Amino acid sequence: MNNMKTKYCQDRPIFTSLSPNTEKDDIVLALKLIFQPWKWTNNRKSTIVENPLNLFEQKFKDYLGAKYAFTFNSGRTAFLAILKCLTFEPDSEVLIQGFTCNAVVNPILAADLKPVFVDIEEETLNINPDDLEKKITDKSKVVLVQHTFGLPAFAKAASFAEAATKAESAGKPADVSEDNKIVEICKKHNLILIEDCAHSLGATYNEKKLGTFGTAAFFSFGRDKVISSVFGGMAITNDEELAKRIGEYRDKLPEPSYFWIFQQLLHPILTNFLVIPFYNFCGLGKWMLILLQKLKILSKAVQNKEKKGEMPANFTKKMPEALAILALNQFDKLNKILAHQKEIAGFYRENLKNTDFSLPPDLPGRIYMRYSLLLKDKDTDKILKKARKQKIFLDDGWRKTAIVPPDTNQKKLGYRAGDCPIAEKIAENIINLPTHINISKKDAKRIIDFLKTKHTEARPL
Ligand SMILES: Cc1ncc(COP(=O)(O)O)c(C=O)c1O
Repeated sequence: MNNMKTKYCQDRPIFTSLSPNTEKDDIVLALKLIFQPWKWTNNRKSTIVENPLNLFEQKFKDYLGAKYAFTFNSGRTAFLAILKCLTFEPDSEVLIQGFTCNAVVNPILAADLKPVFVDIEEETLNINPDDLEKKITDKSKVVLVQHTFGLPAFAKAASFAEAATKAESAGKPADVSEDNKIVEICKKHNLILIEDCAHSLGATYNEKKLGTFGTAAFFSFGRDKVISSVFGGMAITNDEELAKRIGEYRDKLPEPSYFWIFQQLLHPILTNFLVIPFYNFCGLGKWMLILLQKLKILSKAVQNKEKKGEMPANFTKKMPEALAILALNQFDKLNKILAHQKEIAGFYRENLKNTDFSLPPDLPGRIYMRYSLLLKDKDTDKILKKARKQKIFLDDGWRKTAIVPPDTNQKKLGYRAGDCPIAEKIAENIINLPTHINISKKDAKRIIDFLKTKHTEARPL
């Protein structure tokens, strides 16, 4: 008993969210920036390449092989900019998958467009091309393709499995090149393809970077994304005319306030030095987090209004220079981050392959922003509660509802129950395991051991 108590006290808390990407150098950088307020806002009147915003855009373009890139304060602002600059008739339809975040739906509503929800494929958690084609109408103008948790939406898991088996017997790499059904559908129906790469920075399809398949794409550098500057986003395109408009739109946006920038710089510091350590004291960390958010010392990822279908007008801003500096520091570590995610995902796969969890497909070119498990029973609430008792916090908000987080008002965001039955089912059955840079194999082993015992208790193998 004593041994158990000591072990419990020694176990450090494990989180899927809560500043997951930050390493020591990111925290030191944020701390330094707090004392350098002259670096907080944009100096880009000068065209100097060394300006962090210019540098970040340039590195991003080079990495993706895109012609134009524009920073914003978030992925949702980048998406709104793209939609506004494409100029559609009001009430034009944007086809978007169920099992998405409210931050993706709100820009559609804010641009006076209508989201039409398309169901997903169970194996990939990405848009189902057959349901997509069924839901196209005369008013459809855009298909937004989300590469959920880093898995390319253009690849189909079922055909990949087939190709992989064939390739293995022939001793060659699997070829899934004939699979880009979504691009074909967009061409056939004259629809604009926009990629939501919030989860998929660095992922490829047929060795081509995601984000370069459509008219435009956007990325997020939110607190729990592939790389993070707490808030941040990028819009990219190869279309010269669209780029001109997005550039003009962005240049007219205001700078975020000094207070807002200060809040974001505090985030990695306070979460690591105040919130997470307090989780070792009777779960006080959660109350500490709530208190800091209530006092507006820390920001929330999504404001309450956004859960009711409103995109606060004062949120749409430029990316401040200070956050570009944080994002650049993370971007320079991208390969290391992706390799780490892949290694942890491999460790989960190896150790969970003989359980009755459904494991995500290991498609070529995919990245692992999360490792998503599907459970056959709807017992995720119980499992997550038991995990919390062992200081394993696996709830990343991607569960329960077709538009996440679960306290989002589905109706106000235009979703009707039954629009996407598979997405609704998946939302009930999913648990996302963390793969981020601060997850060690020892942490992953703790999660695996927990899942094996607790899951076996919930449902015998
Ligand atoms: C799939 C997806 N797309 C877009 C966004 C919006 O990104 P951001 O939080 O940077 O506005 C999010 C994030 O919250 C997301 O999960």
